[in-house]
Amino acid sequence: MKTDEIVSAMRSIVGETDVLTDPQDIAPHMIDWRKRHSGIAACVVFPRNVGHVSKVLAHCNAHRIKVFPQGGNTSVCGGSVPDGVGGSILMNLAKMNHIMEVNARNNSITVEAGCILADIQAAAFDADRLFPLTLGAEGSCQIGGNISTNAGGTNVVRFGNARDLVLGLEVVLADGRIWNGLRTLRKNNSGYDLKNLFIGAEGTLGIVTAASLKLYPRPCARATAMLGFSDVQDAVSEGIKLQTQFTSELVGLELISLSEFEISLRHAAKTRNPFEATPNWIVLVELAATSGSSEALTDRMTEYLRESFEEGIVQDAVVASSEQQRADLWKIRHSVTESNVKEGMGLTHDIAVPTYRIPDFIQQAGDALKAHYPEVLPVVVGHMGDGNLHYIAMFSHDNWSHVADKRKTQLELSHLLYDIAAGMGGTFSAEHGIGALHIPEMSKYKDPIELTLMQAIKNLLDPLDTMNPGRVVPLPHADA
Ligand code: FAD
Ligand code: LAC
Ligand code: ZN
Repeated sequence: MKTDEIVSAMRSIVGETDVLTDPQDIAPHMIDWRKRHSGIAACVVFPRNVGHVSKVLAHCNAHRIKVFPQGGNTSVCGGSVPDGVGGSILMNLAKMNHIMEVNARNNSITVEAGCILADIQAAAFDADRLFPLTLGAEGSCQIGGNISTNAGGTNVVRFGNARDLVLGLEVVLADGRIWNGLRTLRKNNSGYDLKNLFIGAEGTLGIVTAASLKLYPRPCARATAMLGFSDVQDAVSEGIKLQTQFTSELVGLELISLSEFEISLRHAAKTRNPFEATPNWIVLVELAATSGSSEALTDRMTEYLRESFEEGIVQDAVVASSEQQRADLWKIRHSVTESNVKEGMGLTHDIAVPTYRIPDFIQQAGDALKAHYPEVLPVVVGHMGDGNLHYIAMFSHDNWSHVADKRKTQLELSHLLYDIAAGMGGTFSAEHGIGALHIPEMSKYKDPIELTLMQAIKNLLDPLDTMNPGRVVPLPHADA
């Protein structure tokens, strides 16, 4: 179909104003926020309800028009922008942003997929509840994107990732049929659990249009501290002890290397180093409780840490004594991604290994980089409690500009690190997903049976390959 035919078909479904074609208007939707992936499409379509989504997908399916779904466009693996082929549409869910129901007695909330994550957190707060999904992009990412990437973030250690928070979904299938699975039940073994197929599918199986989500009681007490360690083994051992001691209260356990800490302080506005002498490794720990006071919880945490402090395992500790101090500590952590972009060209590796293997991974990865890429600075930040590290090989902008074959270098360097993770029973993608970026790793590291099953599911639900084509599932025999 020609571009003007696609555009006029879309306008006849969603209306004139909700289809953008002007190059300036669509430009921000065609490139990811780190400016590493870009593509083209005939137009950007903003449906306002599930009926619109259904009609658009039915039309696209009938005419073999590719559909690229987009939420807040905060993907870090090139999943949220179109490919370079053209003749496709990009569908952004931003105008489907209604909170449909908050049910405090049922601890559930039902929302349209274009709701911004922070708005869902705020609606839960207003109902004296907690929606625990928390990540640095929460001010702009959409819940449909969070569900489609099975996002993680900094509360997974206590509440699980997006998958663990979904009770039910509404999904429009590739051919336009609407599956209404919007239930708020805690138990339902009436056949296959279909919602889990769409969670983490990155828009390759259909469009998530609404979700019913779990809420939790709102904590009234928090204890937050930054702990300093001279080596990573001590940091991880202390983290594992904290996980065991505060099983029900521990909500965050983050690891930051000195290099990452300095980058965040250098580039993020309104941050300040809370340490007098910055340690080599920093652990950000947070406890939360639904009874008692923050003072009492903080006292329990500091009392527990005293022994490790006296033994010299914990070298330094900064304990938040106000909400502002707590926010300041988290600001340093949540600013890392934007700061890394300013610092240089960081090749990010979203690996996971069993938590106790983190020191081994860091040692082996550091040795490998030193041997093969001595110009690279290892930068580490991660969700230590989940065994998930963002291990970043940071090139200065200047060094990167001199790399002749950038894609080849990226693949070789990354596979060096992924091989180490794989050798420890780990993964090359813990929480960010596959997108377009990690197709080669799918072919290299996934079990062939798993890949065959994934291809069969894709073929069943999207036989014409119109939904986010080229993402997540490598084509059979494709040499990615
Ligand atoms: P997009 O980026 O727009 O899309 C992501 C994928 O989902 C794409 O494949 C897209 O096609 C698909 N998609 C989007 N909406 C729908 C829908 N309604 N139906 C079907 N498919 C859809 N990720 C983490 O897991 N943990 C973190 O801690 C974390 N921190 C981050 C911090 C920063 C500063 C940034 C920029 C990113 C971070 N991310 C993190 C990555 C990113 O925010 C998440 O992957 C997020 O879930 C993406 O949501 P989005 O709405 O921006 O989706
Ligand atoms: C974070 C993102 C990059 O943890 O996942 O900051
Ligand atoms: Zn993360």
